[in-house]
Amino acid sequence: MKKICFLAVLLSLFTALPAEEYLLYDFENYEIGTKFNLKNVPGRPVGEGSYAVVAADPTDSNNKVLHVLLVNSWDTYPEYPLPDGFTAADFCTYQSVAFSLYRPQVLPKNNDYMQTAVWLGDKKVYQEEHPNYPDQGPRDTWLEKRYAFTPVETEASNFLLGLHSDNMEYYLDNIRLVRAEKGYDYTDETQTLRYYVEKCGNGKHIGVATPSSWKNVIDLNNDLHDMSQTVFRNFNMVVAEDNMKFAYIEPSQGNFEFGYTDALVAFAERHGMEVRGHTLCWHKQLPDWVTTSEDRNSHNYSSDSLLSILRNHITTIVSRYKGQIAEWDVVNECLADDQGNLRNPANKDKYFLRPSVWSKGIGAKLEWSYDNTGGDFIDSAFFYAHRADPDAKLFLNDYGVECGGRKADAYYNLAKHLIEKKIPIHGVGLQCHFDAGVLDSAGLVRQIQRFQELGLEVVITELDIASSGKQADEFRTIANIFMEQENCSNMVLWGVSDRDSWRNSSPLLFDADLAAKPAFFAVRDALKRQYVLSVAPVPNDARPQSPYVDVYNLAGQKIASGMRRESVNFLPTGIYIVDGEKVMVR
Ligand code: XIL
Repeated sequence: MKKICFLAVLLSLFTALPAEEYLLYDFENYEIGTKFNLKNVPGRPVGEGSYAVVAADPTDSNNKVLHVLLVNSWDTYPEYPLPDGFTAADFCTYQSVAFSLYRPQVLPKNNDYMQTAVWLGDKKVYQEEHPNYPDQGPRDTWLEKRYAFTPVETEASNFLLGLHSDNMEYYLDNIRLVRAEKGYDYTDETQTLRYYVEKCGNGKHIGVATPSSWKNVIDLNNDLHDMSQTVFRNFNMVVAEDNMKFAYIEPSQGNFEFGYTDALVAFAERHGMEVRGHTLCWHKQLPDWVTTSEDRNSHNYSSDSLLSILRNHITTIVSRYKGQIAEWDVVNECLADDQGNLRNPANKDKYFLRPSVWSKGIGAKLEWSYDNTGGDFIDSAFFYAHRADPDAKLFLNDYGVECGGRKADAYYNLAKHLIEKKIPIHGVGLQCHFDAGVLDSAGLVRQIQRFQELGLEVVITELDIASSGKQADEFRTIANIFMEQENCSNMVLWGVSDRDSWRNSSPLLFDADLAAKPAFFAVRDALKRQYVLSVAPVPNDARPQSPYVDVYNLAGQKIASGMRRESVNFLPTGIYIVDGEKVMVR
């Protein structure tokens, strides 16, 4: 017991060791009132009244900090000389920049459009981009911020670091560089995830959603970017987390924004990856011109107009990427959350749709759809997509349908019904946004298998699992299921780093510095296990055969030593490994 405690203490000491840090600015050596230059990157004049000045910390008068006020100064940041003898190349040997940030509550013209940007001379090494301007944390309190950046080649002797907004006030302190350890070496392919999936040769893909922060296509074009490398070295499939959704790709009627998707498709082609398209028909992230409400046809479009909007949307996008986007989430989250009506035996084969612009606005064909309106949009959406690219695989996608329960039954009923109607559907997506401890692995396997009976593929489309002591194990279980279930063709993580996740429960495989978490190693172990099992040594007929053999089960455990070779046939029915080869006993 004592020994274990001692070990535990040693271990925690080891893991608590700080990563190597270099302090650039804590402002303590500066006089209050010292001015730092404010630089406008595009070279426009800095707005009058703006400043960056050393001041007392608003929460502790003994501490000095930098106080920044920006007035009409878009793209303007404080400029800091690099310390004597410390070069831009030294700067780039670190992988992340960290600082403390304080944003006061009350301002004239308070503007919350806040992105961090870091420049070395005139080269940008980091810029936070998010189409939804994420919550930047509470005001009136110091927050720790840390961002992994991209090294650049430059002789610059200064750097810029600040927030990007035209009117805002903030305080900075303790600006430092942090050398982050990733925990694995992604330049060695045998340490990455995709290596083992590809080695299995079963055509499966391990995928990832590229974060919204990649709105800036520059990152997608930069293969040296740490994020790019983490993605293409570990994954062989990509999905856009947001940028292919209706609101982004057709923001106004008939005007399509293909920049991000083009860059994503090119990125995937450069790196031998497949692309999943997400998503063509959904009730959320719709532009205002389609509807201003998630559950209504707010502009009262006629059913014909809505069908033509949907047809033009789907046809334009799917044909543009014909042959380049392997599969599409055609209809996303169309089921109502409450499928209580399935309790009634008369309804046991039915499903109920949620109210949306599509279900409410398009026709009234299915008597059992939500409040007796429109299932028609589902059929139409699949047909439009199929017509535009007959080789693309087409999916439904939903949540809360993964491990059983009435919504899972409704999902099965809907898929079955589409097949019966000969709608071109190839598979279903199980989103798998799990809270800690809710994974029911037997239920998940059952759900995957009953879709196999319908001849459908299943893709784990949006996997993330809230952090807990069991996170790594839960990821391992799902990765094993993905590899073992024949019709489970792909498994996609909903984001790369915990920092960019849409959930704040650290649900992904990489931390803010893109360092591998225990969940990464658990997934890798599962993929590797399947690879080891899949490799049967080449049979060598010339090899003299011993009359006695050791027998292993598929999990690699020895179940008999020195058994007579012919006795193997009398083992219980199953698959065994004998002399390194699989042997089936019937
Ligand atoms: C989420 C994105 O991750 C967020 O960035 C965005 O703000 C909202 O949408 N089901 C889906 C995904 O099908 O498209 C959603 O993605 C998560 C739930």
